[in-house]
Amino acid sequence: MHPVRKIWCRIYQTAFRIALPVLPYREPKPLASFADAAALLAEKRVRRVLIVTDKNIMRLGLTRELEDDLADAGIAASIYDEVVPNPTIANVEAARERYLADGCEALIAFGGGSAMDCAKVVGARLARPKKPVTRMRGILRVLLPLPLLIAVPTTAGTGSETTLAAVITDGETHYKYPINDFCLIPRYAVLDYRTTLGLPPAVTATTGMDALVHATEAYIGRSTTRETRSRAIEAVRLIRTYLLRAYRDGADAKAREHMLRAAYCAGIAFTKSYVGYVHAVAHSLGGQYGIAHGLANAVLLPHVLDAYGASCERRLADLARRSGVAAEGTSDHDASQAFIAWVRKMNAAMGIPTTLSGIRDEDIPVMAKRADAEGNPLYPVPLLMDATELESLYHSVQEPAPAGAADESGEQAAATEDVAGSETDAARMPAASLPHRLAHAVRTQIRRARRAARRAGSRIRTNR
Ligand SMILES: NC(=O)c1ccc[n+]([C@@H]2O[C@H](COP(=O)([O-])OP(=O)(O)OC[C@H]3O[C@@H](n4cnc5c(N)ncnc54)[C@H](O)[C@@H]3O)[C@@H](O)[C@H]2O)c1
Ligand SMILES: [Zn+2]
Repeated sequence: MHPVRKIWCRIYQTAFRIALPVLPYREPKPLASFADAAALLAEKRVRRVLIVTDKNIMRLGLTRELEDDLADAGIAASIYDEVVPNPTIANVEAARERYLADGCEALIAFGGGSAMDCAKVVGARLARPKKPVTRMRGILRVLLPLPLLIAVPTTAGTGSETTLAAVITDGETHYKYPINDFCLIPRYAVLDYRTTLGLPPAVTATTGMDALVHATEAYIGRSTTRETRSRAIEAVRLIRTYLLRAYRDGADAKAREHMLRAAYCAGIAFTKSYVGYVHAVAHSLGGQYGIAHGLANAVLLPHVLDAYGASCERRLADLARRSGVAAEGTSDHDASQAFIAWVRKMNAAMGIPTTLSGIRDEDIPVMAKRADAEGNPLYPVPLLMDATELESLYHSVQEPAPAGAADESGEQAAATEDVAGSETDAARMPAASLPHRLAHAVRTQIRRARRAARRAGSRIRTNR
């Protein structure tokens, strides 16, 4: 990365670190049961609620108890169950239409990160009916309160029930990006491990590793606080003790309960201390190829930690020692290496591969630009990388293409060029660059004023 840009990134991150104590972070209020959620809605005089979920969860009947409790409390429920993994803008718009058509007055997000993120953005669209999702990318673009939102996580997991982020995919351009705003933090959450008992082992493994990535990226970043460090350590300790147990025996109630807690703690750690390039790269892979978020993260984590090298050694060693991955007294170098080796061992023990299939050379530059726009300047990563440097991370997890795959690639490359070409100027802008956006807004206003003045037959004067 160019040294001037590096300085800019670090100044930007420092400004956010200094502002942290005054930023309006909050945690969702815990609700002990679905009956409590129904009672709360009745108390708020909500007559109809929209449950945002997915087909799989409906098929498993996981929402049934909630629906019964709502009915007992005299609250009608509409259901939107079309959310897909890597939820899309089309999901958000369809759910929003259902909310409005049925006259709903509150939202319940019931599912993994996909359902929760979809419901958050539905709320954002209800709060800002004139602002399309594409213009919410980045930070602080929603700013208005959402309708009452209760989150019920069923994976352990994204921690989305406690974060200010919602990650959404533009189905047209395959661009997946976070929307970050304090108003997206759900007001209430029901953390009931029973909803996670039926998670298949592969989903238990990848979503559990996602929580580990949250804790790790938050801890090795440069904007931690005493609180976020302690939450990250708690999450890693719990994951160390309980993830394999939950993976091997899904009915292990204690393991499920502690994994839900781990995901929540890791969510608190990263909502305040950010993630890093594992996430920026994983999001671009999820948008482009539909790769599951947890899988991409799990595969990427050891490679990205290797790439950070000495820049994250001290903090990673600290996390390793304090979470029990390395013994007290182990040197920084050895403890950080032990952490990376442990991540690889966890992946291997749960059948998570070391590479990802389907990554095509010709897509990498566009994905790397998107990861650059997501990560820089916002994420306080140990080692700054620009798009060109990030490309190496895609190559590090790229499974070699099988023989004969070359024929298709010309056609798909053309499609990718279309995707890149269809991005607007605003979409190419670094997601979090506030001054950049302000300058853009001012220029847009001047252009509009000029057009209006021309239409009125006069010329506008500008002082240069
Ligand atoms: N907002 C945030 O802070 C945040 C953080 C991390 C990830 N994310 C986003 O969350 C999404 C991923 O969420 P996820 O990993 O929870 O997966 P998911 O919500 O996509 O669910 C994965 C699969 O598991 C199934 N499933 C969910 N709960 C189940 C249960 N209890 N039993 C059986 N099957 C169940 C779902 O039906 C789905 O098929 C990604 O889009 C990612 O970008 C958001
Ligand atoms: Zn994640």
